[in-house]
Amino acid sequence: MGYEGAPRRPFFVRAGLLSVTELDYQSLMSQDIALLDHIMSRAPVIPVLILDDPDKALGLGRALVAGGLPVLEVTLRTPRAYDCIRALASVEGAIVGAGTVLDGLALAAAVEAGAQFLVSPGTSPKLLEAADRSSIPLLPGIATASEAMALSERGYERLKFFPAEAIGGVDHLKSLASPLPRLKFCPTGGIGPDKASRYLALPNVVCVGGSWVAPGDAVAASDWGRIEKLAREAANLGPAC
Ligand code: 3PG
Repeated sequence: MGYEGAPRRPFFVRAGLLSVTELDYQSLMSQDIALLDHIMSRAPVIPVLILDDPDKALGLGRALVAGGLPVLEVTLRTPRAYDCIRALASVEGAIVGAGTVLDGLALAAAVEAGAQFLVSPGTSPKLLEAADRSSIPLLPGIATASEAMALSERGYERLKFFPAEAIGGVDHLKSLASPLPRLKFCPTGGIGPDKASRYLALPNVVCVGGSWVAPGDAVAASDWGRIEKLAREAANLGPAC
């Protein structure tokens, strides 16, 4: 008997159609779904941060956590993103992940900096090989049913839906719920407070990601009060009726 959060074996293994050895079962168990569920369900919104100043990270992280958003994604798009992850990891109550993880080198450096989860806009075979060797969970991005199915075959059931608004938004994601019922998503890309609730109402959405809670001008001005207010509003978002 597995514990409640344990990943289920694919039906063809349970049914004895293929042996564990034939399937390379290890590679199918590469996503820690229980841990990702724990992280993704902490708040309705994961702030997506493009940050290059570790000195800002402490104030920013404290404001977001105080506002009710403890899960933070730092994108690897700036020269000092790793230092920002390091700084944010020291904020009490924060769960810090790395976003825009494009390859194995970036994955290893993010883990070394203290990332507790990893996010990628899409996948590549080499990135998945690196993720298979890492104990830190990867939330990989998909934009089509085929990409989602390919990842599902490898044991990935928690996925980023990206870039959400550009690829059909709520209607597209809603259409995946019935044919792919085991998969749950964090849509990101073009989502703001006006659109988040419609995504959060979908049965296959756990949380949404977005940069709106940490506007560049507020970060530049160290306006932590404004960011805490935005975070509080985001933390109170729920499914649209
Ligand atoms: C990104 O990777 O940039 C995220 O999806 C955030 O997108 P947003 O800036 O549109 O919220």
